[in-house]
Amino acid sequence: MRKLCFALTAAAALAGFCMTAEADSVLPSVMESYEKNADNSYSVSYLEEDPYLVNIYEGYGFAKDYGSARGHAYVLEDVGKTERPHALANCLTCKTADFTKLVNDLGEDAYSLEFESIFPDMHENVGCYTCHEDKIADGTLVLTHDYTLAAIGDEMGDGIAPAIAVCGQCHTEYYFKPENKATNVPYEDIASMDPAAELAYYDEMGFADWVQESTGTPLLKAQHPEIETVLGEGSVHAKMGLSCADCHMEKASAEDGSGYKSHYLQSPLSSEAILETCAACHKDTDMAEKVHAVQAEVTARETEVGEKLSALKDKLAEAVAGGEYSEEELDEIRKLHRTAQWFFDYDYVENSEGAHNSTLAKKCLDTAESVIDEAMGRLGS
Ligand code: HEC
Ligand code: HEC
Ligand code: HEC
Ligand code: HEC
Repeated sequence: MRKLCFALTAAAALAGFCMTAEADSVLPSVMESYEKNADNSYSVSYLEEDPYLVNIYEGYGFAKDYGSARGHAYVLEDVGKTERPHALANCLTCKTADFTKLVNDLGEDAYSLEFESIFPDMHENVGCYTCHEDKIADGTLVLTHDYTLAAIGDEMGDGIAPAIAVCGQCHTEYYFKPENKATNVPYEDIASMDPAAELAYYDEMGFADWVQESTGTPLLKAQHPEIETVLGEGSVHAKMGLSCADCHMEKASAEDGSGYKSHYLQSPLSSEAILETCAACHKDTDMAEKVHAVQAEVTARETEVGEKLSALKDKLAEAVAGGEYSEEELDEIRKLHRTAQWFFDYDYVENSEGAHNSTLAKKCLDTAESVIDEAMGRLGS
């Protein structure tokens, strides 16, 4: 029975597999809303929008292909066609329930399987299993990703709302462990979900995503730290009890009137039902205007700091090629370069463009800028 439940696909859920007597009338509506994730197909190329990125990511896959996120219905399609290299199965960690199931069956060895050898067996995108394991019938939230369970499992429901923790299984900064390529997160509780603490974690283990050829800097690539931004310093909403689901999944009613959460994950600005919930605190504020104002301010700072970072990279590459600095001096400047790029990226790759927590976004950009200034000073400009 358990095995069968584990192998559940969305289609099987609809057909009523593994359902018990509690299986209830909202399931068809939940399924229908889940299918709507295919509507969110819009993606822009960040590299065309912000050309300085090509320079700062030089030598890494993101310099070749880097588009904005789109709906959960596209994760497998997008990972299949990205021009970034993916040698191992670990890059399926946040794409498909089929892979999560495989990790839970095989253990960490699954992460280092060859990508191409298992990709043909991956059929489901982010699926029911991802957030509910085999508790689909009543919608109980379960952490299925082993590294999330290890890091914050004990805080789920006790400090971290389940409807934040399940999203944080993927909407988080992560890395692959050098020894076995298993996916992991650089924190162990809310307190360590912080850009400075995560950088210290990587520094201590001597971790780098890549060493950039022209500068020789061991750089980090941050990735979508949404759970950190929503729970971390400067955020207001999680402390007031709002979860990711409250803002991205609207409340709806099935035909017989029973309530359920729409499984179409959308911007709060595109849902009247979600916007109504904002009014409980924001009264008659125009929420689109408020959100866009925050995003415009953060994005403008991002461009400013991103261009300065790009200039630092060029200047450092010149210094490396020129040979007038000692390796020791260069290493000190590289450390500053690594730090600045981390703080810049931590803000840039967070998907809300500052809306989740503009305090943290601005703090990251200010930190990046002051470190860039210090590095430029050492390079004599
Ligand atoms: C198994 C991993 C996983 C989980 C769990 C997950 N997501 Fe996602 N999510 C993704 C990926 C990957 C993308 C980007 C898809 C793409 O661009 O192909 C994404 C995209 C999104 C988008 C669309 C982004 C855009 O710009 O259009 C929203 C909104 C979203 N997720 C919200 C959530 C919420 C809310 C939760 C929890 C209820 C959640 N996600 C749980 C992996 C996950
Ligand atoms: C990205 C995470 C995520 C995925 C994937 C997901 N759910 Fe849910 N599900 C949730 C959240 C969050 C809730 C709301 C729980 C709450 O409010 O406490 C929920 C609630 C439910 C409920 C309870 C009724 C309701 O809507 O409040 C059912 C039933 C359910 N989900 C079924 C499914 C099925 C079937 C699938 C696969 C088609 C699925 N879920 C996929 C996160 C997810
Ligand atoms: C207080 C409400 C609120 C909470 C809580 C919240 N978000 Fe958001 N989120 C927003 C707003 C507002 C935006 C910007 C929407 C826009 O630009 O249209 C956004 C944007 C996003 C995006 C970019 C996709 C898009 O449609 O623009 C993703 C992905 C996302 N949030 C995921 C999450 C995750 C995961 C969590 C929990 C860890 C979370 N959000 C918690 C309000 C919220
Ligand atoms: C429980 C009360 C409450 C609810 C509900 C709520 N907010 Fe807020 N929100 C606040 C408070 C308090 C602040 C901080 C003061 C301010 O900026 O208005 C805030 C700030 C914000 C900010 C600025 C964040 C920043 O870091 O700059 C945005 C954007 C925002 N809210 C969007 C939303 C959206 C969208 C919704 C509905 C999906 C929502 N809020 C629901 C209480 C709430």
